[in-house]
Amino acid sequence: MPLLTAHDLYRSFRRTGQVDTTVLRGASMQVEPGEIIALVGPSGAGKSTLLHIMASLDAADRGAVALQINGTMTDLSKLSSKELASVRARRIGMVFQFHHLLPEFTALENVAMPALVIGMSPAEANKKASSLLEDVGMLPRAHHLPTEMSGGEQQRVAIARALVNNPSIVFADEPTGNLDTTNAGFVADLLLGLQSTRNIACVIATHSPDLANKAHRIVRMVDGRCLGPNDA
Ligand SMILES: Nc1ncnc2c1ncn2[C@@H]1O[C@H](COP(=O)(O)OP(=O)(O)OP(=O)(O)O)[C@@H](O)[C@H]1O
Ligand SMILES: [Mg+2]
Repeated sequence: MPLLTAHDLYRSFRRTGQVDTTVLRGASMQVEPGEIIALVGPSGAGKSTLLHIMASLDAADRGAVALQINGTMTDLSKLSSKELASVRARRIGMVFQFHHLLPEFTALENVAMPALVIGMSPAEANKKASSLLEDVGMLPRAHHLPTEMSGGEQQRVAIARALVNNPSIVFADEPTGNLDTTNAGFVADLLLGLQSTRNIACVIATHSPDLANKAHRIVRMVDGRCLGPNDA
């Protein structure tokens, strides 16, 4: 059974006084449990739009996203907004190009936050957050604010935050786009290693051929669709 299926997604954006821009035109893809996929394609192809819809941060106009939950493929559009929020918090991690850490909180607090939100005790959340910060090499910076860390360090903290609730899938949108080579390599290795370290699947939108070539599989997007193996 797949972990996630996105089937025939369409998405247009309307701006007053302008014609609609149709960004997704029948995009479909499937992710197996623990599969690490690189999503590549030209700028404007729809990669970010597709990631946001698969991560349930945006909704498609047409088509469906289903996620395996407790052994059942669950159509996300059939869930109430409360159920969807719970699925998003517990099963889906998101890493953006710009980390989106909360500026007034320390690294440890940023990582612990999503665990506190779903009801973990502060002691347990801090323990989990510390352990994840250690895994991403950021434990020495646990009590630093985001402004006291480099871009690469902030991104490592953002990955720890995405993992704190043990998601089954992480979506990363150009996670290395803003980083120097060393930090880009470190962040790429963390994401590419998610299957072997934690059995987490990951879909990474990237313009980096180096990163893409290390994924289990490359999915290419062109004009709002994902090309199949026979389209190349
Ligand atoms: N909220 C929005 N309103 C209007 N147009 C949008 C919106 N979001 C995206 N678009 C348009 O949709 C198209 C696809 O955008 P998207 O960000 O998904 O592409 P992408 O493949 O991620 O590109 P890049 O590689 O540059 O990140 C672009 O032409 C963009 O301008
Ligand atoms: Mg994008």
